[in-house]
Amino acid sequence: MIILAIDTSCDDTCIAILEVKKEKFKILSNVVSSQVKLHQKYGGVYPSLAKREHRKNLEPVLKKALKEANLLKKVDAIAITIGPGLDPCLWTGINFAKALAQEWKLPLIPANHIEAHILANWLITKPNNLIKFPAICLVISGGHSQLILMKKIGKYKIIGETRDDAAGECFDKTARILGLSYPGGPAIAALAKKFKIQDSRFKLKLPRPMINSKDYDFSFSGLKTAVLYDFKKRSKKIRTSKGYVKEMAKEIQQAIIDVLIKKTIKAAKEYKAKSILLGGGVTANNELRKQMKEAVKKQLPFAICHLPFTNFCTDNAAMVGVAAYFNRKKKKSWKQIKAEANLRI
Ligand code: KG4
Ligand code: ZN
Repeated sequence: MIILAIDTSCDDTCIAILEVKKEKFKILSNVVSSQVKLHQKYGGVYPSLAKREHRKNLEPVLKKALKEANLLKKVDAIAITIGPGLDPCLWTGINFAKALAQEWKLPLIPANHIEAHILANWLITKPNNLIKFPAICLVISGGHSQLILMKKIGKYKIIGETRDDAAGECFDKTARILGLSYPGGPAIAALAKKFKIQDSRFKLKLPRPMINSKDYDFSFSGLKTAVLYDFKKRSKKIRTSKGYVKEMAKEIQQAIIDVLIKKTIKAAKEYKAKSILLGGGVTANNELRKQMKEAVKKQLPFAICHLPFTNFCTDNAAMVGVAAYFNRKKKKSWKQIKAEANLRI
């Protein structure tokens, strides 16, 4: 089966073509047209601008995806993200997908962006049956931070989520306080990597919000406020110095990692998880990847930690193709397909 998948849920225009054989996914093309430069001056995604860019980008991105895939067989279905995401952006992709499905006379399969982030783990080339259930999934992106119990593909229960800012949002907002560019996650990670403990001048210690709470919820807005207070109390000379920004970047990253790992391990123990599945843009963070793998190995000897390749952590349409494949029987008439900005898994 060949699936052409589209995602325009946020600020990336994504189209991928996948060939699926016995639940193995071969990526024929995976094009992501990033709007990062455009949104940088606003320090975040500006929805009406993102929608305009998606409109401009969709056709060239489709042409590129088709060219790269060099298709010998015809496409069997079109997959489209219907939510969660930014309403005007979602609609742009949905309308494009509907027009394409009508023109090519193909079925249209709706996909959930959060499920797609989890199923990005099925894009790995090793045999898929390595992923055993139950699994605890940690989905951490710019808009979401959720811990999800997965009994099998298609059967999910949200057991915890953020009460305010998402983990990615916390990276983005604290980076902005420090004067770093959007998206904040990669900017903070790059600076944190340069920090050496022996260079520590400020002995910064940020809070780890809700780390010991009995539930599986998160809260990151207090962390952002703590960064702002510390930043404001410093002199201009200090807060613009490389030493301070590097040390702060390291501490922000570690505070977020500590909370994410502690809650994930706790959930995995309670639900006797056999797999830990990570997904979403923040999963591209190398330090988190390393520390999560180590923690699972040490504290969960019967579980395996799965991480998507870094290019499948941030938004892409290949993961949407996987989600659509597993939901292919739930086809809807294209007239029923609409954007669901607050869609839950
Ligand atoms: O999944 P994604 O591409 O889009 C959403 O669905 O939101 O996630 C984007 C988020 C941004 O907040 C960005 O700062 C964060 O992922 N991110 C990172 C890294 N790369 C992207 N956060 C930490 N470390 C990274 N290396
Ligand atoms: Zn995403």
